[in-house]
Amino acid sequence: MAEEKKLEKKVPTHLAIILDGNGRWAKKRNLPRLMGHRAGLRKLENMVRLVKARGIRYFSVYAFSTENWNRPAMEVTGLMSLFRYYIRKKVDEVKAEGARIRFCGRKDKLPEDLLKQMRWAEDYTKDQNILDFILCINYGGRAEILDAVNSLIASKPQAPVTEEDLRKYFYLPDVPDPDLIIRTSGELRLSNFWLWESAYSEYYFTDIHWPDFDENELDKALENYAGRERRYGGLKN
Ligand code: FPP
Repeated sequence: MAEEKKLEKKVPTHLAIILDGNGRWAKKRNLPRLMGHRAGLRKLENMVRLVKARGIRYFSVYAFSTENWNRPAMEVTGLMSLFRYYIRKKVDEVKAEGARIRFCGRKDKLPEDLLKQMRWAEDYTKDQNILDFILCINYGGRAEILDAVNSLIASKPQAPVTEEDLRKYFYLPDVPDPDLIIRTSGELRLSNFWLWESAYSEYYFTDIHWPDFDENELDKALENYAGRERRYGGLKN
């Protein structure tokens, strides 16, 4: 019976993570912030495999927001280099896991060579169908809604427009809304991530800094989610 219950355990279809706390992780160790981001990237590499093993179908991470351009130039440049490194060195591993890489966010401001690499990685993995690994880079929820509204207006729609009409213009319209959003490092906010899509998401917050978030922490979050009752504004059964 206990085993049956385990097998029935509710797993999110779409897990989203706000990767926070790289800077604090580094500070605690007297290291430069960029070392924290590097440690965060290493943690992410492993996470794709762990997430896939738990039967999650969509895994999105908030790696760089539309507001992160306001960070010191050296940090922004360093993060762009990490994104390049990841695409150059890790895409084969991701593909071997059966995962498709997708990028989500505005394409302006990103360096041209990085954009080229991003397009290549998407194309190179496009036939993988076990897991969609979605990297939100230069992403902002408000920007996404605004971009969708502008595209919708340009299409001269018939009033009144519906949610579905607008959704067609989101960056990844086929991706289901996140079921569970995890935020590491103790802040209790969404910071402009999946703004529209999170209307009925469940949240899980932990004080652990992202580079310390391991398999055990992932399972704690998933366990917690499995015990929640989702009603989407309806009544309790
Ligand atoms: C937030 O921590 C983290 C970021 C802005 C960057 C996250 C990026 C990575 C983990 C690298 C990912 C790489 C790829 C390829 C997706 P913070 O700097 O705000 O930490 P703090 O709040 O402690 O200062």
